[in-house]
Amino acid sequence: MANQFSGNVFEKVTDETRQGEVLQGIEQGTKKMYLESYGCQMNFSDSEIVASIMAENGYSSTPNLQEADVVFINTCSIRENAEQKVRGRLDVFRMAKKQKPEMVIGVLGCMAERMKAKLLDEEKVVDLVIGPDAYKDLPNLLDQVESGQKAVNVILSREETYADITPVRLGGNGVLAFVTIMRGCDNMCSFCVVPFTRGRERSRDAHSIISECRDLFEKGYKEVTLLGQNVDSYHWSNEEENVNFAQLLERVALISPLLRVRFSTSHPKDITDEVLETMANHENICKCIHLPVQSGSTTCLERMNRTYSREWYMNRVEAIRRIIPECAITSDVIAGFCGETEEEHADTLSMIDFVKYDMSYMFKYSERPGTFAARKYKDDIAEEVKSRRLDEIIAKQSGYSLERNKEAVGQTQKILVEGFAKKGNHQQCGRNSQNKMVVFPTQDHVQPGDYVMVKMEDCSQATLIGTFIEKL
Ligand code: SAH
Ligand code: SF4
Ligand code: F3S
Repeated sequence: MANQFSGNVFEKVTDETRQGEVLQGIEQGTKKMYLESYGCQMNFSDSEIVASIMAENGYSSTPNLQEADVVFINTCSIRENAEQKVRGRLDVFRMAKKQKPEMVIGVLGCMAERMKAKLLDEEKVVDLVIGPDAYKDLPNLLDQVESGQKAVNVILSREETYADITPVRLGGNGVLAFVTIMRGCDNMCSFCVVPFTRGRERSRDAHSIISECRDLFEKGYKEVTLLGQNVDSYHWSNEEENVNFAQLLERVALISPLLRVRFSTSHPKDITDEVLETMANHENICKCIHLPVQSGSTTCLERMNRTYSREWYMNRVEAIRRIIPECAITSDVIAGFCGETEEEHADTLSMIDFVKYDMSYMFKYSERPGTFAARKYKDDIAEEVKSRRLDEIIAKQSGYSLERNKEAVGQTQKILVEGFAKKGNHQQCGRNSQNKMVVFPTQDHVQPGDYVMVKMEDCSQATLIGTFIEKL
C-alpha cells in the first residue's frame, strides 16, 4: 500500500493503491513467469486471472526476475506517480534483459490500455502490450513475440468479465479473497482515467460470483470482498431473474454465516437504503462502507462530474448512521482539483468534521491525459497550495481516525484472525467488522481463519490493541 516515490511522508499511509508486489502461487509449469502488480485491488485480482491463464499454458511463477522467461508488470495509471514508478521498473527490466536477451517483457493493465502501441515506441524494452479486457489473448500474443514480432492487444470489451476463469489465488493467506463482480466504469468523473483504461461498465453473471464465493468458502476462506468501481450499480439479469447489488450481497451472505462479506467501492450517488438494510440484516456482512467523497463542495463536485451535491452526500451518511449505527465510513479525498478555491477546500474540511471518517485515502490532484478535466480545466492550483491543503486534510483525518479507534476501546469484538502482526510472532492480528486492524497476544490454539473475541484495551490511529477473550 505504501507509495515510496513521492517524497511526501504522509503518502505512505494515504495511498490505497498497492506498489510493486511480486505475486507468486502457480507451480506446475516448466516456463517461468515473473509478475509484478500495481494499483487497485481490481488490478491484483486481474493478476490472478493472468496467472490462471499462464498456468494453463505451462508457466509457473518465480519471485526471481533473472530466472524469468516472461516478465509481466500489471500497471496503474490513476496518478502520474503511479506511471513513473512503472517507468522506473522498466529500466530495471532493461538491465535484466541485457543479461538474458530472450526474456519477454510485457506491460499489462491500465497504463498499457492508456498508452497502447505508443508504449512500444517510448519503451524499447517492451515486447508486449495488453489491456485489461484482452488477457485471454495472452497465449497468442506470446506466440507472436516468440516469432520475433512485437504484440499489442488493447481492445476493450463490453462483455468480458472473465466469469469462466477461476483465478489462481496469489500471495494470500488462505483467509481473505477478492472477487470481481463487475468491470469498467460509466461514470466519467472528470479527473479520472479509469473509464478510459477499463472501458464500459458490465456486471458479471451472479451465478458465477456465488459459485466462486462458495468454492472459496469450501476451500477454507472466511472472507470475500466483492469488487467493482461502483458496486451499487451492479445489475445482472437473464430470462428468469434480475439481480441488483443488494440481492447479490444477500445471496453471498447466505452462503454461510461463517463467511464474512465486504465490498468496495460504493458510489454516493447510487448507494441505496436497500443495500444498507441488507447489511443491517446480516451479521456476516461487514459494517464498513467505503464512500469516497472526493470533495465536500457542491461546486467542486460539479466540476468533478460526481453527480451528487454536498447535501446529497450528507443525506447518504445520515441514512447509514440511521440504518447501521455501528458502521464505519471511509473515504477518498482529492486536494487541489482544478479551480478549487479556499472556500471549497474549507467545505472538504468541514465534511470531514461532519462524517468523522474512520479512515481516508487522500491525494493531491494529478492531471491525467485525455480526461475531461485535462481537456477543459486548467490544473491551476500551485503545488505548494495542493500540498498545504493535503496536509490540512490529513491532519484533520488523522484526528478522527484516532478518535474512531478510541471509541472501540473497552469493547469486546469479534475478530477474524489473519496471521501474525508484522513485528514478529508474539502478536496475532485480524480485523473487526469495521475493517480495523486488531492485534492481540499470540495464542497457541488460534490459527488464521479462526474467529476470536478480543477486548480492546488501547489504540493508535491505525491499530487497536486488545487482550484475547475466547476462540469462537
Ligand atoms: N471508483 C472509485 C475510485 C477509483 S480510483 C470511486 O469512484 O470512488 C481511487 C481514487 O483515486 C479515487 O476515489 C480518487 O480519490 C483518486 N483519484 C482518481 N483520479 C485521480 C487523479 N487524477 N488525481 C488524484 N487522485 C485521483
Ligand atoms: Fe473513476 Fe469516477 Fe469511475 Fe470511480 S466512479 S472509477 S472515480 S470515473
Ligand atoms: Fe489504477 Fe487501473 Fe485500478 S488506473 S486504480 S489499476 S483501475
